Amino acid sequence: MATAGALSVPCLAETPIIADTSLRAAAHAGGRIFGAAVQFEQLDNDPAFRKLVLAECDSLTPELVLKWAAIHLAPGRFDLGPMDRLAGFARTHGKRIHGHTLLWHRSIPAWAGPEMAAPGGWNVLQSFFTAVMQRYGDVVRYWDVVNEPVEPMDDADGLRRSPFLSAFGPDYVRRALETARACAPAAQLMINEYGLEYPDAEDEARRARLLRLLDDLRRRDVPLDGVGIQAHLRLDRGAIDQAALAQFFQELADRGLFLLITELDVREVDTSRDFGRRDQRVAAATRAFLDVALDQPAVRGISTWGLSDRYSWLNEDGESGTRQPGGNRGLPYDSALRPKPLCRAMASSLRTKREFKLPYSL
Ligand code: G3I
Repeated sequence: MATAGALSVPCLAETPIIADTSLRAAAHAGGRIFGAAVQFEQLDNDPAFRKLVLAECDSLTPELVLKWAAIHLAPGRFDLGPMDRLAGFARTHGKRIHGHTLLWHRSIPAWAGPEMAAPGGWNVLQSFFTAVMQRYGDVVRYWDVVNEPVEPMDDADGLRRSPFLSAFGPDYVRRALETARACAPAAQLMINEYGLEYPDAEDEARRARLLRLLDDLRRRDVPLDGVGIQAHLRLDRGAIDQAALAQFFQELADRGLFLLITELDVREVDTSRDFGRRDQRVAAATRAFLDVALDQPAVRGISTWGLSDRYSWLNEDGESGTRQPGGNRGLPYDSALRPKPLCRAMASSLRTKREFKLPYSL
């Protein structure tokens, strides 16, 4: 894929900003859905945030509680309480849950590593898939069946070195998708990947390897319906190459797959007090990405990784796990829940890039 000719990030002044900042309304106007990653406690303890999430989101992604390590405490023992609460909230309010995630190398229960590697090890995965896919099948339509399987920097033919790869070989991706299809025949099954957005060698290699993986799965008629583009943007990575990115989205669509932007947010570099300038940079970088993504008809919707800077993993202290509201300003609403230029830029892009008529996937 060509990486030359990166376009400069467009100036926001040149793009139409609309007064209405509702992301959900804008997404619907363009025939798409909008969602965000959340934690149930945020919704339960913070009425103002709950109100914002209810107003803005069609879809809620569990930031933590649907992950394997959070649920599967021991063989045959599941802690489904936290996920039940979030699923109950979604049912009560007519929201969808985005099924994040079944297989992820960063969320494997400690006991499960050795079990997977033993004979019959697939049964461990089978029992987790069965437990959650059946229990939440009414409220989850899209499942991130395999999260982040590609790592071109690992010496394993471009697949990530992980306990899944060690235990089952590269065929684990096919087996996961087939197991998921058997558990939930009507669900939409996805591979979710990060590091696909920028024109540098690392992202270029990840894009190429992902396409090769998809071709291999397609050739073997493996049940895969869509691809999640995480889109954790970073201002220190420079500008995206809009032409190359558009070509990549088209190559995914050409394989008959739908696309979702699954974890959009922006990591800043500058953390000075000059919020105005910072917010314009975050908004412009996102607009440059979204204008490409939303030009692609196969893109069905966007989820951000959090909705407000009040609750963002980008403000998490790695040591303590605590979050400092408002340090990084990479989400559409600030820590006081006011819409920022990012929110207006997203709404404008969603509104102007119309592709579909609902209902697509509510
Ligand atoms: O809340 C506890 C705290 O009580 C405890 O003292 C502390 C000790 O480390 O941990 C805290 O929990 C942390 C949790 O985030 C709280 O938000 C966990 O350690 C930490 O591992 C966990 O990280 C999450 C990470 O996935 C791993 O599950 C991030 O919040 C979450 O945003 C992140 O999400 C991932 C997506 O699933 C996949 N794509 C990338 C994305 C960002 O890394």
